[in-house]
Amino acid sequence: MSVSLWRRKSTMHAHSIDDLRRLAQRRLPRAIFDFFDGGAEDEQALRDNRKAYRRHALVPRVLCDVSDISLATTIVGAHAALPIVIAPTGAVGFGWRGGDVAIARAAARHDIPYTLSTSGTASIAEIAAAAKRRWFQAYILRNRAFTLRLIDRALEYGYDGLMITVDLPVGGKRERDFRNDFAIPFRYTARNLLDFASRPGWALPMLRHGIPVMPNLPGLEVRSTDSNALASSVGRNYDPSFDWNDLAAIRAHWPHKLIVKGIVHPDDARRAADIGVDAIVVSNHGGRQLDAGGATLDALQAVAAAVGERIDVLVDGGVRRGSDIVKALALGARAVLIGRPTLYGVCADGEAGAHRALDILADELRRTMQLCGITRISDIGPSLLAPQSRMALR
Ligand code: FNR
Repeated sequence: MSVSLWRRKSTMHAHSIDDLRRLAQRRLPRAIFDFFDGGAEDEQALRDNRKAYRRHALVPRVLCDVSDISLATTIVGAHAALPIVIAPTGAVGFGWRGGDVAIARAAARHDIPYTLSTSGTASIAEIAAAAKRRWFQAYILRNRAFTLRLIDRALEYGYDGLMITVDLPVGGKRERDFRNDFAIPFRYTARNLLDFASRPGWALPMLRHGIPVMPNLPGLEVRSTDSNALASSVGRNYDPSFDWNDLAAIRAHWPHKLIVKGIVHPDDARRAADIGVDAIVVSNHGGRQLDAGGATLDALQAVAAAVGERIDVLVDGGVRRGSDIVKALALGARAVLIGRPTLYGVCADGEAGAHRALDILADELRRTMQLCGITRISDIGPSLLAPQSRMALR
C-alpha cells in the first residue's frame, strides 16, 4: 500500500480530535509533538482548560423539530459558517511543511476566520492568497518600528482583523521543550538527531526541502546559548514594556477590527472595551504561559458579564468537542478559537487532516444542537446549562 493511501485511510479513520492527536503523535518526532502538545510548568492550566468543560452539563429539550439546522453566526461583525476561529499558532511548518497554508485553506472551505501568527511559517502574502477571512496576530516586539511594518503589511494584504496577544510579556516556562532540547532554530544534539531519524515520514521532507523559516520575522532568529531560554527565538524579542497606552496607540493606527487575546480579568476586559477594541479572547495561550491561572471557561463567565453587551467575547483553550462549543456559547462566548485541534489534523495529514478536524467539530456541534433541541446558534444560552452551572453564572 502506498504511503499516500495509508495517510488517507488513517485520517478517514479519525473520528475525534483525540484520534487526530494520536495520529500526529505517531508521525512527529517527540520534541516536535511535545512543542505543539505541551504547556507551561506542571501543565495545570492545560489540564484545567479541559476539566472545566467536563464540569458543565447540558440539559436537552426534546420533541422539538430539529430537521432544519444552521450553524452560521456572526463573529466580530461578519458572517461565519461556524462559531469557530482558527487561533494563531507559530511554527506550524515544523509539523507539516506548508501547514499554515493548509490550515488556512481548510478554514476557507469551512468559511471561518483564520489567524496568522507573527511567528507563523507562512508569509502574510501567502496566507492572503489562501485564506478567505484573515486576521493577523501581532506580538509586540522590542523593535516597535518592525512590529508596525508587519501590521501595515497585513493591512496592505487585506487582513480585516488585527489580533494583539497580551498574555506573553515574557515566555512561559515550557519544560517539555527544555527536557527535549527543543529550540527554534533547531539544536542538533545526538538525542534530537535520533528522535528525528525515528520518524522518517517527518524527517525525509525536512531533509529534502530544508527546515522551515518564519518569513515574517527575518533577522530576528537568534540562536540561543542559554539552555533555559525560550524555545522560540521570537520569545526573546517580545517587549515586556508594552502597556495600555501602547494598545490605545495601536487602536488609533489600525482601521479595521481589533481583537485583544489573553484577557481573563473583567476589569481588563472593561478597559479594553473602553479603548475601543472590537473583541477580546479569554485565553491562557492554551496553557502555555501562566500555569497557575486556572481554566479559561471559568474566567469566561465574569468577563462576558462585564463586557458581553458591548463587544464580542471569544474564548479558547481545550475545545475538543462540538459540545464544548455549545457550553462556551451558553456561558457567554460568541465563538471559540481552536489551536491544537487543527494543528493535530495538519500534522497527521496536511490539509486533509486540518479539514477533517473542522469536519469533526462541525458534525459534533450539529449533533449536540439537535440532541439539545435547538436549531440556531443564537438559541444557545444559559437555559441549556444544568442548574449548578446556571447558579455559578449569577
Ligand atoms: C499557540 N498559541 C499562540 N498564540 C498566539 O497568540 N500566537 C502564537 O504564535 C501562538 N503560537 C502557538 C503555538 C502552539 C504550538 C500552540 C499550541 C499554541 C496559542 C493559541 O493561539 C491558542 O490560544 C491555544 O492554542 C488555544 O488552546 P487549544 O485550542 O490549543 O487548546
